[in-house]
Order: sequence, then C-alpha cells, then structure tokens
Amino acid sequence: MNNNRLILIGLLIPAILMIPFSIISFYTDFANRNPDPLSVTVDFDQNAYNAVEGKKAFEQYQCMDCHTIVGNGAYFAPDLTTVYKRIGENDAALSNFILSGASAKGMQPMRDRGMTEDDAYRITAFLKYANMLDTNGWPGAGSWERDGNPDSTSAKKLDFFDIWQVVSGIVFINVLIFAIILAYENKKNDREA
Ligand code: HEC
Repeated sequence: MNNNRLILIGLLIPAILMIPFSIISFYTDFANRNPDPLSVTVDFDQNAYNAVEGKKAFEQYQCMDCHTIVGNGAYFAPDLTTVYKRIGENDAALSNFILSGASAKGMQPMRDRGMTEDDAYRITAFLKYANMLDTNGWPGAGSWERDGNPDSTSAKKLDFFDIWQVVSGIVFINVLIFAIILAYENKKNDREA
C-alpha cells in the first residue's frame, strides 16, 4: 500500500469515528436537561405560582444586589442556586424566611419592602427551579457552609459518555500525529528516490 493511501485511511478513520461521538456529545452535553420553568410551581392560598413569575419578583426586589444565582450577581450574601435544598425543600419555610429576613446578619425583612406573601411564594417557585438546574454539580461539596452545614451537592461523576469523548479525542490526536509522521516520511522517501 502506498503512503498516500495510508495517510488517507489514517485521516478517514478518526473522521468517521468523530461522527457518532459528536452525536453522543450533542445529546449528553447540549440536550436541555432543565425543566420547563412554567411547569415548576409552588402552591399558596389556592394559587400555583410558577418560576417565570417568580423570576420577575426576584428581579423586582433586587435580590441580586446582595446574592448570586449560579455565581452571577453580588457577593455580599450566599449564592441562592441551591438554597431551596439547603432550606429543606420546604416552600413555607423559604417563603417565610424571605419575608422575615435575618436583620442581624444583613438580610432585610422583605416585608419591610412591601413584599406580599404571594410574591414570597413566587420567588420560592423561582428558587425551586434554580435548584433543579443542571449545573454539572456546581457548587461542589463543601463550597458553601452555613452554621457548619456544608452543601451536600456532590461534584458530577464521570459517566460512560464522558469517557468515550476522552477516548475518541485521544484516538483522533494519535491518528493525526501518525498521519503527519507518515506524510513526512513519504516526502523524505520521494526526495531520496
Ligand atoms: C441587602 C442585601 C440583601 C438583599 C437585597 C437580599 N438578601 Fe437575602 N440574605 C442577605 C444576607 C447577608 C444573608 C445571609 C444571612 C445569614 O447569614 O443568615 C441572606 C440570606 C438569604 C437566604 C438564606 C440563605 C441560606 O443559604 O440559608 C435566602 C433564602 C435569601 N437571603 C433570599 C433572598 C431573596 C429571595 C431576596 C430578594 C427578595 C434577598 N434575599 C435579598 C442579604 C440580602
């Protein structure tokens, strides 16, 4: 077999391999694994408030002047991405905390800013949604401690498809190097001939 054909095969193998791996990575990395925010609701007083109205209220009361959501916002107060879980996935407890605050620690009672109970439950729906976001394990275990209780979210473990993406990358780079060396050898042989 001549070298040019070998090089072609060497390049075609990874090219063909990349197709199924690209499809796999598309489904595992980019598929929307987050819930529809309209379908995430919290019940209060015979109403079901969804995460979309909750986000509006969250913005209206400028929670991000002090807090962050997935790391975005102000760094005065704790990140709220997984606070729903931290507070025990208890809608009433979270809503009441938002209304009553923790003045001594810098969290203003939102009641003082004219917040209604309905708005507090709306925001709770938004925080419930935030807790369901696929953040790839962020924040990791122990990244947030409150009263000595580390956040128990564990970092994401490697799964089967992650491993295959790595393997396909390694195969691709190896075959590429192989093809470059062959091309170089080929040139050298031509010159010597
Ligand atoms: C003026 C700054 C400020 C604003 C504005 C603010 N917070 Fe806070 N918040 C804090 C601070 C500081 C804490 C931490 C209190 C503590 O250590 O107990 C906190 C704590 C919290 C907690 C408990 C966090 C935890 O991990 O246990 C929740 C929930 C919360 N805030 C929600 C909100 C919501 C919702 C809004 C908007 C309606 C908001 N906060 C607006 C300062 C603020």
